[in-house]
Amino acid sequence: MESSTVRGNWSGRVGFVLAAAGSAIGLGNIWMFPYRAGQYGGAAFVFVYLGAVVLIGLPLLNSEILLGRATRRNPVGALRLLSPGTGWPVVGWLGVIAGFVILSYYGVVAGWALDYTWMAASGQLFSSTSGSMSGAFEKLAANGPRQVWWQGLFMLATIFIVSRGVEQGIERTGKILMPLLFGIVLVLLGYSLTSDGVERGLEFFMRPRFSELGWQGALAALGQAFFSLSLGMGAMITYGSYLGEDESLPGSVAMIAVADTALAILAGLVIFPLVFTFNLEPSAGPGLVFITLPQAFAMMPAPAFLASLFFLLLIFAALTSAVSLLEVAVAFLVDEFKFSRVTASVGAGAIIFCLGLPSALSEGFLDHVDALASNWLLPVGGLCTALFVGWSLDRAAARKFYAAGGSGRGFEMFHFCIKYLAPVAVGVILLQNTWPVISGLFAG
Ligand code: TRP
Repeated sequence: MESSTVRGNWSGRVGFVLAAAGSAIGLGNIWMFPYRAGQYGGAAFVFVYLGAVVLIGLPLLNSEILLGRATRRNPVGALRLLSPGTGWPVVGWLGVIAGFVILSYYGVVAGWALDYTWMAASGQLFSSTSGSMSGAFEKLAANGPRQVWWQGLFMLATIFIVSRGVEQGIERTGKILMPLLFGIVLVLLGYSLTSDGVERGLEFFMRPRFSELGWQGALAALGQAFFSLSLGMGAMITYGSYLGEDESLPGSVAMIAVADTALAILAGLVIFPLVFTFNLEPSAGPGLVFITLPQAFAMMPAPAFLASLFFLLLIFAALTSAVSLLEVAVAFLVDEFKFSRVTASVGAGAIIFCLGLPSALSEGFLDHVDALASNWLLPVGGLCTALFVGWSLDRAAARKFYAAGGSGRGFEMFHFCIKYLAPVAVGVILLQNTWPVISGLFAG
């Protein structure tokens, strides 16, 4: 009892679901998902993504949360408690490291959103007569100190929230920002669905073009599902560790996944009609949100208002996700080394800020770190989590953890997915990503 009050707890199911949805909903939904759908065949990408969320994402989300809830520990401590004297805790270590890596560049991209909000609200973004938004982005990308400033500010906010604790910091932030976020999306949706490009935008987003998907797009969709649901590095183990045994899992898990998926689709519905209204390029890649979309805003009435609202949305989404990334490291330091929460938050946050400096100073570096995390660390972590829950944990224990606080309905399906389906599918992602490297070795 005493240790659980020191660690902290969610006040209840609503707080937990909103915090976990806050972790899931982030730059992955609003920045990555639309540009990837644009690149990989619209609804063709969305179909594979939805399949991956249901068949792999849901079981893995369930697995991570139940591991945390059953052990009330950070990822390293959770695996050590369930499997003492084995190599499994290494998977937890991998997760803690992945959290450092992801947050390092995540803070930089969130910093861009801060810069854009500031530029839009102060009228600078749309003041240049040339109206070249790629110019605006290139200027920012070339200005290291300016990026570092915004990244630092964003990290300070993240540290502050985490240092205040599970209920007073993380849960409260989710309870305020999540409803605001959905509200902003609905306002923006009102604009986009009444714009001239709505038909062509929906057609582009909602009609599958399988020829543009390809094997690579299918794998990108799987990786996207992982990243978007915050899986593969113990973030959900950590959030699960603050959850009481009296809360039923599958319902909450489904709500988190539905909220996350809904927000990704809504982001697409906001962005594509606007892009088509002004005949802009919908498959622009990572620049879609930072270059193409502001061009569309520039041609609408009240561009500064619209752009500020959109980038504020991006900041809110990013902040609740960054908090979950930092919380993994903090829970680890608090549980394993008895640091105080404040010391752990400030210490880990400062290190992550420094790790992010190369990403702020070089866009190429940022892309590499992103690829390292999404293509390697998360899939490996997810694969190991599936193998642990499916094969190492015995079936009776898995059933007990799954069913605590509820009826245990759906266990058979869950166990089949986590034991066979998830490892095979994730194994394929990994092989696909390693294959060029392996074949390169032989070709060389
Ligand atoms: N899910 C968040 C997004 O879509 C990012 C994120 C937060 C994350 N915590 C995570 C990704 C843990 C992987 C693992 O932006």
